[in-house]
Amino acid sequence: MARILQVRDPETIRIAVEALRRGAPVAMPTETVYGLAADATNPAAITAIYEAKGRPRFNPLIAHVCDIEMAKAHAEFSPIAERLAEAFWPGPLTLVLPLKADAGIHELATAGLATVGLRAPQGVARTLIGAFGRPLAAPSANRSGRISPTTAGHVAEDLEDRIDLVLDGGPCAVGVESTIIAVDGESLTLLRPGGVPVKTAEEAADVKIRRNDGGATGIIAPGMMRSHYAPEAKLRLDAVDVRPGEALLKFGAKAIAGEGQASWTGNLSASGDLREAASNLFSFLKQADCNAKAGIAVAPIPMEGIGEAINDRLNRAAAPRD
Ligand code: TXA
Ligand code: MG
Repeated sequence: MARILQVRDPETIRIAVEALRRGAPVAMPTETVYGLAADATNPAAITAIYEAKGRPRFNPLIAHVCDIEMAKAHAEFSPIAERLAEAFWPGPLTLVLPLKADAGIHELATAGLATVGLRAPQGVARTLIGAFGRPLAAPSANRSGRISPTTAGHVAEDLEDRIDLVLDGGPCAVGVESTIIAVDGESLTLLRPGGVPVKTAEEAADVKIRRNDGGATGIIAPGMMRSHYAPEAKLRLDAVDVRPGEALLKFGAKAIAGEGQASWTGNLSASGDLREAASNLFSFLKQADCNAKAGIAVAPIPMEGIGEAINDRLNRAAAPRD
């Protein structure tokens, strides 16, 4: 069973750095979701991440840095990339940038691509990267295909004895993964909606962000398969009523027809606050999944702001499984 260490304990960072130096992956809280971190320059450490998650190796990992300086040692920053990093780092934005020829990030982490996904996270993750002194490759700390964890308890349940250490920093404030934007000179492409709303990023960059249509010329995030974030129960989105035995995920104060028939009810945000809804999304989905007798009905969620990321994750959770 994984050992859970509290981040407020002054010994925790030292113990985590020792584990990282040995090449062991460590689960760490970030403001988005918990990540399973390992030395991005060490092939054995990266292999240990893929194994613990059961993740396909063609799917590259985000390298987490403590600041723009560390990021610039590994990737080429165009002026627009720099603007975005300055506006949102540390924070829930990942930039996919051209990899520098002499970057130390191992090709197992980038899956051999000519680009690298870089993000400077907030909080204890940042402290940990600073103390370690090198980028940390970190996918979400769940088994591949499962819902991303937003508490240390979720990580421990999902990865059990596959990892040694989980740093517990409480529930993640943002609750959905980072927004991923590919930067090609002055052109920006959205690879994944996430914690930074697209409109907010467009305003900071002063450039329109292209939606990724996945077409022949489109850049893709290899990990964005349609069916992902898979709960066991079937999801019914934009539900205006509840059928007997369904678990119900509500949003806002509006009553839903047949609510009394729900096997379980959770309100993502009774006041209709999308940021609160995002922070509750994954833990409520897990609870709904445990308590559903006949699927999960999900009330409509507006597409504004972080609502785009919420709807993206719900659509993936509802997609047919292969
Ligand atoms: O909020 C987050 O981004 C969290 C926390 C832990 O930082 N991490 C996360 O990692 O969600 P992961 O591995 O679950 O998702 C990263 C996504 C994958 O879909 C991967 O294919 C894509 O980023 N990605 C990484 N590097 C890329 C690259 N060079 N080009 C295109 N897509 C890339
Ligand atoms: Mg993930």
